[in-house]
Amino acid sequence: AAFIQPPVLRPYSVGIDPADGAKVENYVVTQMAGTAKILPRLSTPILGYNGIFPGPTIEVERGTKTTLTVKNKLPATHPTHGHVLATSTHLHGSASLPQYDGYASDVTMPGFQKKYYFPNFQPARTLWYHDHGVHYTAQNAYSGLAAQYRIHDPQERGLLPQGEFDVGLTITDAMFAANGAMGYDDNTHSGLWGDVILVNGVPWPVMKVKRRIYRFRVLNASISRSLRLALSTNDAMTMVATDGGLMPAPVTVTSWRHGGAERYEVLIDFSKYKVGQRVELRNLSNKNNVDYDNTNKVMAFDVVSDPVDKSDTTWNTVPTVLAPNTDVMGLTKGMVEQKRYMRVARDDKTNLWTIGGSSWAEVIASGYQKVFAQVAMDSVEEWEIENKSGGWFHPVHIHLVDFKIISRNGKAPMPYEAGPKDVVYVGEGEKVKVLMRFGPHKGRYMVHCHNLPHEDHDMMTQFRVALNAN
Ligand code: C2O
Ligand code: CU
Repeated sequence: AAFIQPPVLRPYSVGIDPADGAKVENYVVTQMAGTAKILPRLSTPILGYNGIFPGPTIEVERGTKTTLTVKNKLPATHPTHGHVLATSTHLHGSASLPQYDGYASDVTMPGFQKKYYFPNFQPARTLWYHDHGVHYTAQNAYSGLAAQYRIHDPQERGLLPQGEFDVGLTITDAMFAANGAMGYDDNTHSGLWGDVILVNGVPWPVMKVKRRIYRFRVLNASISRSLRLALSTNDAMTMVATDGGLMPAPVTVTSWRHGGAERYEVLIDFSKYKVGQRVELRNLSNKNNVDYDNTNKVMAFDVVSDPVDKSDTTWNTVPTVLAPNTDVMGLTKGMVEQKRYMRVARDDKTNLWTIGGSSWAEVIASGYQKVFAQVAMDSVEEWEIENKSGGWFHPVHIHLVDFKIISRNGKAPMPYEAGPKDVVYVGEGEKVKVLMRFGPHKGRYMVHCHNLPHEDHDMMTQFRVALNAN
């Protein structure tokens, strides 16, 4: 099928924040049931922002504030799973105020709406918004409630391809019933492993490209599966940005491990191929996924023509230096004020997953008071995250902050992880250390596994940012 990208959402109005004179763009999306044409001759019921999957992309300039009114016009209960469609919308990658951060238990019921405020003061990056409703994040995101969101800034615009050469790839996996409906099968709460890979909601799409460099904003929005992406030619690609935006310098890769919710921006240079050539993007296997016959296929590129505008300096050049996000990449061990240890595990007695010795069920039972840590505003902490749950991997996401990975199993992190991050892949038996500075907001923020069935059962906890640590 042909490659498509979701439409870009337009603001319904633009204004000025009287408090500081900043521009404000006001957006609205409606969560609703819809149908998608994914498989030949069949239609697939979905739940989507504006009824489409993935939802519409939002693109803003750094420094422009946004409001996003999310109208919940979903059916009262999920058409196949039966749970109440109470939703909470998280802008993943944004340092939002706690009341606008998609806190799992802060849900909006069908028939109601919530207006979210997003500051967009952070450097250019690829973000995404997705449902975070307590205990049903996995089914709701899998059913379609996920979309990209981008912050641009002049630095990024000057360095990397823009417009038609700046392309979002939201990758998911799904399994389908004979009638075209998406199946969900996760009795063990371990994860869902679809046998079909979708890119922007299309199985195995083919994109027509010109002989030049393209920038791909790759988001793994699969609820469980991790990817290892590579070209069929084994040619090198150039990693230029991670979750929190530009890396200090480009990194050459022939493949990379890409866990759920991670974003990697990669340049692919099609100028080295001939017109008429097809190059495929493939998924090599990672440990502890369930693979099927076609889960090694992602999409293909057909090289159809020469570049049109060679005055665009990004057509065949990769910048040698990007822009270090010095706030994050400048963090050093010498700045650390507090160290903490967080273990991710499975509790065999309850069959629940735990993180930092807790579960979200315990947080709920405490009236939302229980925290993994209380951290001091503006302080730098080092967290060591260890996965001793044999046979599983856990992409761990810390809300609010960007962090720097300083070690993986006592050694340097993967070269392509050397940029600002908000999700860290913690593979079987792995131990990672991350540095981050907490702020600029006070309040409670979630930290959880982004294998969403793990999150829902109940691999999520929270930390509090306050004046003082404890
Ligand atoms: Cu992408 Cu707490 O989520
Ligand atoms: Cu997990």
